[in-house]
Amino acid sequence: MSDSPVRTQVLIVGAGPAGLLLGQLLARAGIDNVILELRSAAHVLSRIRAGVLEPGTVALLEEAGVAARLHREGLRHGGFEICVDGALHRIDLQALVGQQVTVYGQTELTRDLMEARAAAGLSTLYEVDDVRPLEIEGTEPRVAFVHAGQRREIRCDFIAGCDGFHGVCRASIPAERLRTYEKVYPFGWLGLLADVPPVAPELIYVRHERGFALCSQRSPTRSRYYLQVPAGAALEAWPDSVFWAELRRRLPSAVAAALHEGPAIEKSIAPLRSFVTEPMRHGRLFLAGDAAHIVPPTGAKGLNLAASDVAYLRQGLGDFYRRGSSAGLDAYSQRCLQRIWKAERFSWWMTSLLHRFPSQGDAAFDQRLQEAELAYLLSSAHGRGMIAENYVGLPL
Ligand code: APR
Ligand code: PHB
Repeated sequence: MSDSPVRTQVLIVGAGPAGLLLGQLLARAGIDNVILELRSAAHVLSRIRAGVLEPGTVALLEEAGVAARLHREGLRHGGFEICVDGALHRIDLQALVGQQVTVYGQTELTRDLMEARAAAGLSTLYEVDDVRPLEIEGTEPRVAFVHAGQRREIRCDFIAGCDGFHGVCRASIPAERLRTYEKVYPFGWLGLLADVPPVAPELIYVRHERGFALCSQRSPTRSRYYLQVPAGAALEAWPDSVFWAELRRRLPSAVAAALHEGPAIEKSIAPLRSFVTEPMRHGRLFLAGDAAHIVPPTGAKGLNLAASDVAYLRQGLGDFYRRGSSAGLDAYSQRCLQRIWKAERFSWWMTSLLHRFPSQGDAAFDQRLQEAELAYLLSSAHGRGMIAENYVGLPL
């Protein structure tokens, strides 16, 4: 970490994957930037999140010069399984759309981005407090904050709000200028990370009458599993032994027989939500990633959407500084939102089809529709193609 200047071209708020990737791409384009992050680097790296990268995200990481370890250690998956009524149905991504995804934890990606940023000597201030974007409607915005007990300000040309769902940037746009869309699901995902070999070579998304389950992985020796739990469920109700027993019940017996159990190295419950803010720009402030939108994790789209926002923003800022053109920045919000809504649709759809909704105890009709839609899609090459095309990511 180097000392921060009093002025930069792009002030980035948030050192999650969106902020760090944007910073890296801008620096490579010769655009000066500073990142302000609320938490410590260690805290940012302690958060366990999803781990499926679309090919377009990998290409962007290559451009950013941070893909070497990802190529060495990331797991290339040519397909994944959907399990319905105990039967596995493979979505063959390679055969259906000629592409693969890469399984590589977001935490590792964040680590690679932090290391590249430090190696390039780019300025990042961790543990900043009371961050306030100011004068965002004018041409000389600035950001005030407290760092190491001192109140400071950095002037800039643009502010990139990459500060996640709970950040300050979205909140600093006048409420009447924003429209938000939100859907909260009546369940959450209980995730468990353990140093045991994955139960299967590919991911398995399980629809089960006791609730959804997902078998994922991080490496040949590290697994990530999830269980659908009711909204508001308490972690204390899920000691490891209860988690493993419940997971086994939701898996087909042949898969359950291959399950390796081990102590959790991380266990947490995440609520499921769909959320979009429009527009993603106000004056000189641009929102990117979770600051502007949230998807339920079922389609593995959160990180990939953050990456496509960053790709558009990098392009807009690049055009501004290289050619003096504001066209890319003016189109930013609309270009992002077109892609975001399609990913919102896919994530909502996968969530709706694979989870058990509390009302379904009575609403047997909805459940039958869910079954019929899955049966139809999985038996149709077009249906499987639709799933595959969305899973590997729609074009930018
Ligand atoms: N000031 C500075 N930084 C802040 C503030 C603030 N007021 N509020 C939040 N932050 C930081 C958070 O501590 C976090 O490190 O902004 C960062 C936002 O990072 P993420 O939440 O990871 O969001 P994003 O970079 O958009 O990444 C999107 O991460 O959250 C997952 O599912 C999501 O996979 C997706 C990806
Ligand atoms: C994960 O590995 O954490 C993961 C994978 C796929 C998803 C969600 C989470 O859809």
